[in-house]
Amino acid sequence: MSDLQDFKESSERFGMQVEAQNTGPAEMAARSRFLMCAPEHFDVEYVINPWMKGQLHAPDHARVASQWSDLRNLIRQSAEVVTLPPVKSLPDLVFTANAALVYENVAVLSSFRCAERQPEAPHNADWLRAHGFDVHMLPPGVLFEGAGDALFDRRERLLWFGHGFRSDISAKPFLEASTGIEVEALRLRDPRFYHLDTCFCPLEDGCLLYFPGAFTEESNARIEARVTPGKRLAVEEEDAVRFTCNAVNIGGKVILNDTSPRTAAWLGERGFEVVKTPLSEFMRSGGAAKCLSLRLNEGYSPHGLGSKITEL
Ligand code: ARG
Repeated sequence: MSDLQDFKESSERFGMQVEAQNTGPAEMAARSRFLMCAPEHFDVEYVINPWMKGQLHAPDHARVASQWSDLRNLIRQSAEVVTLPPVKSLPDLVFTANAALVYENVAVLSSFRCAERQPEAPHNADWLRAHGFDVHMLPPGVLFEGAGDALFDRRERLLWFGHGFRSDISAKPFLEASTGIEVEALRLRDPRFYHLDTCFCPLEDGCLLYFPGAFTEESNARIEARVTPGKRLAVEEEDAVRFTCNAVNIGGKVILNDTSPRTAAWLGERGFEVVKTPLSEFMRSGGAAKCLSLRLNEGYSPHGLGSKITEL
């Protein structure tokens, strides 16, 4: 049996719905809902990306707590936030974007490349199952880091998939099988932008922020073919390194660490409100706003696929 066929069947087996709870995907239709994980045990304890070099134990714990709460409060103004319990000795569990790829009631569980993050997977799987998701497990050896590397276009039925550092291209057919959505694969080439969500941000109404320097020439051509020039902004490197593309877009709001006046003006012209919130302590680990959150009602949200900018 092919791996893909096997996956489809095992997904059905593994996907047993845990009894419906009032936090299940079906109840999420009305409002966007995000998963976050309090940074009680967050730190830089190892180096698995260039941002972490020289940052061992550097995060300031008071600032970690306040930056995370500020982000949560901002997201809460426009959406609901639910939390995953933090786990000691799993410092990167705060980056819930890497838990899974969620679409409707399906969660394709991440299969982490780095040994340091692999023990996160069972915690993520338990939480997702307990909250009513069908958890699809990838076959051994198919590496995939969830919504860090898989981002839905907010206008087309299209899933953008980044590979080359953490996720493998071999995950592509499995993502297509689980979501039923066409996948456009983009190859990453700059180790600073090791996850797609560090350098690429689809926004409502088909708009896009991205850093072309993070992609191969061929992948840039694919982006240009899919998104018309008026809808995409190629950000400068100065924006890319302050994680402008690692933004959380809820309706008309774009929540991010920081950005230039040029990018803010471009967003403003398209009806977006830029909300800046400093996330310096998490950037020491190579993550910012988007990495710290996972949209749980993808496909159900009024601000999801096919939606237009809506005032919240
Ligand atoms: N230290 C984490 C890692 O290297 C950061 C993850 C950031 N997450 C993201 N979705 N980009 O895996």
